Amino acid sequence: MDKMCVAKSPALKGEVHTSGAKNSALPLLFSTLLCDGEHVFHNVPQLMDIHSTKSLLESFNCEVSMSGDVAKIYVKPPAKVEAQYDFVRKMRASILCLGPLLSRYGEAVVSLPGGCAIGSRPINLHLEGLETLGAEISVEKGYVIAKCKKLKGERISFENPTVGGTENLMMAATLAEGETIIENAAKEPEIVDLADYLRKMGAKIEGDGTSIIKIEGVDQLRPSEHRVIPDRIEAGTLLIAGAITGGEVTVESCVPSHLDALIYKLKESGFEIYQEKESITIKGRNNWGGVDITTAPHPAFPTDLQAQFMALMAVAEGTSVITESVFENRFMHVQELVRMNANITPKTRVAIVRGKPGCLQGAPVMATDLRASACLVLAGLVAEGETTVNRIYHLDRGYEKLEEKLTKLGAKIQRVK
Ligand code: UD1
Repeated sequence: MDKMCVAKSPALKGEVHTSGAKNSALPLLFSTLLCDGEHVFHNVPQLMDIHSTKSLLESFNCEVSMSGDVAKIYVKPPAKVEAQYDFVRKMRASILCLGPLLSRYGEAVVSLPGGCAIGSRPINLHLEGLETLGAEISVEKGYVIAKCKKLKGERISFENPTVGGTENLMMAATLAEGETIIENAAKEPEIVDLADYLRKMGAKIEGDGTSIIKIEGVDQLRPSEHRVIPDRIEAGTLLIAGAITGGEVTVESCVPSHLDALIYKLKESGFEIYQEKESITIKGRNNWGGVDITTAPHPAFPTDLQAQFMALMAVAEGTSVITESVFENRFMHVQELVRMNANITPKTRVAIVRGKPGCLQGAPVMATDLRASACLVLAGLVAEGETTVNRIYHLDRGYEKLEEKLTKLGAKIQRVK
């Protein structure tokens, strides 16, 4: 299994390119199941999760070709509308095939994703939403079995704004009869990107990016072409890499407004940030202050940057209180940071980080999920000695060539087979 060896690095300097967003590319790829023909996507990142999606689409009879950052998906009717456990256990986002398949074919069988390192992550809101649209759903032997004659537009009010649930329901509603209204919808930029592509396919959607999305069902959609938005979480991670090493890094080809909450907190901590239309530059400093963050749905501070920000706070001057309000168990990186000599006290959903510049020491550590891996790599950049991050297959699920990008900025990081 590959490991990442990270040595204490100089201040990172230079420009770095942002890849396409994983969390946009995945629902976009699944949305192709809504109609036959050739769909073309640009700016698709080369990641494990994208390969898992490719395999799942191929199991539905799609022909998928990937060349550089271009993905072409030729969709044909599947022999079987079943997403097996082997695909879903590798990638929870596989559940996003449920809405499109059910809406188009009147049936879908999808393995239940189960728990993961950051909590139980139920899909009850996806299922309740589809039931509201008229689906009959049962769970048998670990599989969700969904059936319907034709989905009918209805009002769905989410108990909390679920990103995947909003995406699944939005896709399903495009081919439903009549109008669907999703209340308390997620507002993430990835929702807007999906809605943009669905509109290109002929769907009638408005309100995406707000908490009320209206979808007027149509009889048929057609394939189209689309460019995936930049990955705001990767861009944010690279900005924090610049910050934590006291460097000067320009993150290019990103959308600065997607990172407002992070930029605000970095400024509060003392960093200078300059924004252009499609780039953000961070100017590092020798010391910075502890600031509090609370993760919450967009546009608040993203849970997917909480772990990386905690690494930065571990070497800040002063205390910061980090509250995780999205997932129940997203502090698995805390114990690893503590092994690197960070002073952090985790409570149920709150971690108190008593920052101290220069406190981190290199150690062998274990990645438990995607963003926790990134947090440990960032910590390794400023820890005395060498840090070995094990289980970096998590990192490969969601960061495209992270070590190459960091090396280009001057980091001492190496993948060891
Ligand atoms: C997506 C992102 C993930 C990010 C998360 C929150 C993708 C592929 N993944 O995950 O990187 O961390 O948004 O920004 O885009 N919930 C329920 N019932 C449900 C669905 C969700 O209770 O049916 C809860 C979850 O347990 C969690 C919260 O709602 O506490 C938010 O989850 P959700 O927005 O659905 O996350 P994902 O779509 O799985």
